[in-house]
Amino acid sequence: MARILLGVSGGIAAYKALELVRLATAAGHAVRVVQTPASQRFVGAASFAALTGAPVLTGEFEPDPARGAFPGDPAPDHDPLSHLELVRNADILVVAPATANTVAKLAAGLADNLLTSAALAATGPVLVAPAMNHHMWEHPATQANVATLRARGVVVLEPGSGRLASHGEEGAGRLPEPAALLHAIEALTRPVAPAPRPDLVGLRVLVTAGGTREPIDAVRFVGNRSSGRMGFALASEAAALGAAVTVVAANVALPRDARVTYVDVETAAELQAACAAAFAGSDVLLMAAAVADFRPARSFAGKLKKASEERMRVELERTPDILSGLAAARRPGQTVVGFAAEHGEGALDYGREKLARKGLDAVVVNDIARGDIGFDATDNEVTIITAAGETHIARAAKTQIARAVLDAVVDLRAGSGAAEPA
Ligand code: CTP
Repeated sequence: MARILLGVSGGIAAYKALELVRLATAAGHAVRVVQTPASQRFVGAASFAALTGAPVLTGEFEPDPARGAFPGDPAPDHDPLSHLELVRNADILVVAPATANTVAKLAAGLADNLLTSAALAATGPVLVAPAMNHHMWEHPATQANVATLRARGVVVLEPGSGRLASHGEEGAGRLPEPAALLHAIEALTRPVAPAPRPDLVGLRVLVTAGGTREPIDAVRFVGNRSSGRMGFALASEAAALGAAVTVVAANVALPRDARVTYVDVETAAELQAACAAAFAGSDVLLMAAAVADFRPARSFAGKLKKASEERMRVELERTPDILSGLAAARRPGQTVVGFAAEHGEGALDYGREKLARKGLDAVVVNDIARGDIGFDATDNEVTIITAAGETHIARAAKTQIARAVLDAVVDLRAGSGAAEPA
């Protein structure tokens, strides 16, 4: 799945961009559309909005109701500058159709509308699909602009030949067919499959992910904001590198990876039971789930009624510390990693304290005081604490953070071997 930012400029071929969006979304890609004002003379924003399921942007100062998020991703809680945020979140910027005027602006580095500003802010792959009258395409100015873009690493597709929109005109200038455009987009965004890591191949990795929900009654619960993204990223990354991965997933509504086995749970008690069943057969435990520390002491079978009460008291009791229990019961050779969501100053001290108190090989600490990383965000920034020291991993996509955690696991297992049971 790729996040495609599609810039549509004003040519008759803009109607083909609708078909491109339809094909791309049907293939599972998330698409956001930025239109130039001129393109709206050919195709209206409502059509793109309906096909993408997301707002369409035209003006640089127009707020983005989705705050730069792509369909399927959570919107941030702050209002970003739309063109920068959309481009930052995109895997690719595609300009289709690109008119002669837009090609010229891109070559000159102009930023006079949202599309050209986005192009200037793009740091990832940029694909340009020109469509114009054949005289305009063949003009030395256009050809020089295309050469400039290509020299900068922009992929500029050759337009197709044939009948053009202007009556009786034929030649090169047609927008490539939408299926061919999608093929080019997928070729540029396809993740390079990581080579299996010999030290992870066949390793049995147990991951917990998500957040537990502790019932108050049949419809209400005490829960937390964990989305499961970090745990799922760890699982997919470990599977991609060759490990045999089981995830105990507590209330995670994210896409599943066909290479991973999932066990779904809701409560801390269920998570504990699922871990108890799977832990003995695992070499590594990555305890990324946010387990409720407290749960309602009693849960009602039906739905509690308000009646005439002004207040309601829910008594909470401690849940068992699942991670400590597993770490204490481990056999030699098992590696146990905890995760600690800490708030602000002192985060690392708390992390070090948890490493010792829970008898772990590593603790992955992230600072939840920051709104741009952590819960439900696609990025994270962590410090991995082991007995040997600390490794800070600067802000990166959770898949890259996952890779760093797995590197630490490999180092731990290669070094002193896993710590002995406490
Ligand atoms: N954890 C667990 N069982 C619990 C609570 C937490 O297994 N009942 C695990 C989490 O999955 C995580 C690690 O313990 O890997 C750290 O969780 P955290 O809640 O930060 O630790 P606590 O010891 O509960 O410390 P705090 O006082 O900060 O809540």
